Amino acid sequence: MPTAAETATLPPSPLEGLGGLNGKLDAAAAAAGAGAGAAGTACCDEASAAAAAASVPPPQAAPASATSASVRAASARRPPWFASLPDPARHQDFFREALEVLVQQAVFQGTARDSKVLEWRSPEQMGALVDLQVRDAPVDHDQLIQYVKDIIKYSVKTGHPYFVNQLFSSVDPYGLVGQWLGDALNPSVYTYEVSPVFTLMEETVLREMRRIVGFADGRGDGIFCPGGSIANGYAISCARFHAAPHVKTKGLHGLPRMVLFTSEDAHYSIKKLASFLGLGSDNVFMVKCDSNGKMDSVHLEQLVLQAQEEGALPFMVSATAGTTVIGAFDPIPAIADICKKYNMWLHVDAAWGGGALMSRKYKHLLEGIERADSVTWNPHKLLTAPQQCSTFLTKHETVLSACHSASAQYLFQKDKFYDTQYDTGDKHIQCGRRADVLKFWFMWKAKGTLGLEQHIDTVFDNAEYFTQQIKKTEGFRLLMEPQCTNICFWYIPPSLRGQEDREDFNDLLHKVAPKIKERMMKTGSMMVTYQPLRGLPNFFRLVLQNSGLNHDDMDFIIQEIQNLGRDL
Ligand SMILES: Cc1ncc(COP(=O)(O)O)c(C=O)c1O
Repeated sequence: MPTAAETATLPPSPLEGLGGLNGKLDAAAAAAGAGAGAAGTACCDEASAAAAAASVPPPQAAPASATSASVRAASARRPPWFASLPDPARHQDFFREALEVLVQQAVFQGTARDSKVLEWRSPEQMGALVDLQVRDAPVDHDQLIQYVKDIIKYSVKTGHPYFVNQLFSSVDPYGLVGQWLGDALNPSVYTYEVSPVFTLMEETVLREMRRIVGFADGRGDGIFCPGGSIANGYAISCARFHAAPHVKTKGLHGLPRMVLFTSEDAHYSIKKLASFLGLGSDNVFMVKCDSNGKMDSVHLEQLVLQAQEEGALPFMVSATAGTTVIGAFDPIPAIADICKKYNMWLHVDAAWGGGALMSRKYKHLLEGIERADSVTWNPHKLLTAPQQCSTFLTKHETVLSACHSASAQYLFQKDKFYDTQYDTGDKHIQCGRRADVLKFWFMWKAKGTLGLEQHIDTVFDNAEYFTQQIKKTEGFRLLMEPQCTNICFWYIPPSLRGQEDREDFNDLLHKVAPKIKERMMKTGSMMVTYQPLRGLPNFFRLVLQNSGLNHDDMDFIIQEIQNLGRDL
């Protein structure tokens, strides 16, 4: 923004008669005809915006005589108001104010137990409350700060202790600063020349994660992906390439019908990405789960034989370590034996449960994972790195490059002056790519592996406490003993207790969780998700990742469900 002294020397803005830019945008630039559409009011309705835009002279229309020499000199020194360049004089206060609002309102207030998780509004109400329409005319900094406040106010506070609704939550303080640092630097991690620090940081973190998985000396390869779904897609792509390398050049035409296997409780991304990759969702054979939600390895082998009998090529099994709903861990050793016997790629989708590898107490849940050919592991889930932070790890050192590289000469020139093996971007299917590693690295540095272990042990302890409490509390019934930090349970309101023999009991119970969820959201007190599964009526699924929660919070969640559902 111009200083008071600068503003005093500015010629009148052509917009001033409109209530204009009140000196907060650069009136000098506007007067110099910095842009058609350079009009703005604090809050534009359509008519005033149109009038403002219509009144702005085009650049060439600004009379040179109207611009004094001193203003021209000032304009030459400073970027125009629309430039994508931070200007201390114009943006310093703006940044400070925005950051202050973010820290106080989104971070501290947004995570305070005595504030709401959300301010529910219907889409119609929300559209009227937040001024979402973009217009020709700009708005000033005050208005932008007001938008920051509005957006915070009406957004769900996913870092709030009582947002226990999804497989991600929390505002990790170090993760957040890492995220902000990444945004300030805005790198693209494809070449060493553009991202020297992040290239090496990625390789370091991925090697350490492979070591924790149990790949010998952390050898192999890996990438940060935009989400666990895409990481699972990489697994399918690498496994297919491993079985039939000519797929890269010849496509699907030269291939037999290829079949992969996953459990009926696996994440839907396996089917979705199999379709996306041209394999077809019918060629994802769904293996039955046992009563604990784990893949039934006997059924897996039956399906492999069935695929062979149908003349198809079984090429991959995707086991899950921490299923999305139940949190079950598939029996990796038994599945690995079957993969070995039938020469199939073993992928372990540990997007959710992978975090348990950080804990000496809980890593046994993923026993056998070191036998996998590849692993999906999302630090943005159980380890609470900010979204998105997902990895695909493989013990095969060359498959990612061999399968995905395209050797674009404009970017991956081989005659660069440095060692171009550090230009790692060609093994990705993306070109430009965020440095998602940074926030996780920053957290890992701040807490150490020991801190990440304590984090995991704390969330498992809360899950155990919650489970014990609901076992003791009338009206609550567990779906099954939790294996991860997902706790699946029904709340049976007093009116339905003792009515289990009624024919319509399940139909009535099915309606309870959605009603309580609606009340949670309308009061803003918390968010816990629900779903049906394999014909079972809707049940709640509490998912814990936030290690800032304690036993009192577990008690609160139980009491709040009772309060909201007692009269149903
Ligand atoms: C087991 C599992 N795999 C993969 C995914 C997909 O991860 P993302 O949401 O990062 O795409 C999820 C998401 O919940 C999941 O639970």
